[in-house]
Amino acid sequence: MKIIIGNDHTAPQMKQEIMQYVKELGHEVINYGVDTTDSCDYPKIGAQAARAVAKGEADCGILICGTGVGISMAANKVRGIRAAVCSDPVTARLVKQHNDANIIAFGARIVGIETAKSIVRAYLEAEFEGGRHQARIDLIHEIEKTELPENL
Ligand code: RB5
Repeated sequence: MKIIIGNDHTAPQMKQEIMQYVKELGHEVINYGVDTTDSCDYPKIGAQAARAVAKGEADCGILICGTGVGISMAANKVRGIRAAVCSDPVTARLVKQHNDANIIAFGARIVGIETAKSIVRAYLEAEFEGGRHQARIDLIHEIEKTELPENL
């Protein structure tokens, strides 16, 4: 798979380690994040990475900020994006199986690198289950149609 990764200044080191891990798992990574600890704005990175996922530049995305929350909030403002904050591998598996999350996010100040790797692996190995879950995702997209203007 092709995977977009994005991060703010809280996570250049974790991003590098996750990029390496994702490559070891056999995937291609596109880096939309920053590579220094100079202060930057996570909404810009989250939106840019999310737009690229929504346009089909990659199969999915991984976003990292201090908590994973701010960057996922920004990503979720982009039409077609279902970004989920995960702090454990069970949640990461379920957000793929049930929510077909096309982006996961986590916090460099919340999880350690081994937990982050287990989150990434659980997400990448899981499959969307469809069925009743698809019907609920369709309902989310109905909300999106009325609440979010076309922004691609
Ligand atoms: C940056 O200090 C921090 O606010 C940001 O990385 C993130 O945690 C926001 O949700």
